[in-house]
Amino acid sequence: MVIENREPPGRAEWILGKIQKIYSQRAASYNQHVRWLSLGLQRKLRQYITAKLDLQPGQTVLEVACGTGLNFSAIQAAIGPEGRLIGFDYTPAMLDQAKKQIEHQGWQNVSLMQGDVLQLQLAEPVDAILCTFAIGLFPSPRRALERMVAALRPGGRILIADCKLFERWYGFGVNPVLKYLTRPWVPSIEGYFGVQPWSDLQELLGETRYEEQFGGLVYLAWGEI
Ligand SMILES: C[S@@+](CC[C@H](N)C(=O)[O-])C[C@H]1O[C@@H](n2cnc3c(N)ncnc32)[C@H](O)[C@@H]1O
Repeated sequence: MVIENREPPGRAEWILGKIQKIYSQRAASYNQHVRWLSLGLQRKLRQYITAKLDLQPGQTVLEVACGTGLNFSAIQAAIGPEGRLIGFDYTPAMLDQAKKQIEHQGWQNVSLMQGDVLQLQLAEPVDAILCTFAIGLFPSPRRALERMVAALRPGGRILIADCKLFERWYGFGVNPVLKYLTRPWVPSIEGYFGVQPWSDLQELLGETRYEEQFGGLVYLAWGEI
């Protein structure tokens, strides 16, 4: 697969600089914020999302933009100690939090990698890729998807989940509040809510599945290569 640089020069660096700043400042309190913002429902949601990947014991999973590792428990429960989990993220401070969790849990099968998803390159293809609440932050979601799909083995699965604005009637009142709450966490609110990666994923895989949760606030798009 040919991956070209289709970004205007400077924009990607600007986004990555913002990401570094935002998530370095918030890394230590990230888990608490997420618990609060999700009204305590995030654990169940992550189990639900991860289950869509249909992970099997012994499989290798790449989590792109893993952050502090809030999906790790659900992935580990599915792949077991004989599986392998690679957590990839751009912000070292977020990875430091993930490392704390790995040490606390005593997991021996988890490794962490720092980098920009647009430069993602693995030595071996993986069985599955998970990316939650991050794709709208990437300098180019399309190119990020291309990179991720290229990292899958034939038959491997990928799942993308993120927030979107409400499209139903109540969006008129609720979307401004959603934007207000999201703004401190993203380089550009228009960029974050402007992406539609489910169409790109469909184009890249041919066939995908799509689902919304929480009345259209969270979407899941997944498929097999
Ligand atoms: C909102 S957090 C989500 C973390 C985790 N996926 C979760 O569900 O809790 C977004 C994460 O995306 C990471 N990120 C943003 N842009 C990235 C990029 N270009 N490459 C890799 N990671 C990136 C940030 O460092 C941050 O940890």
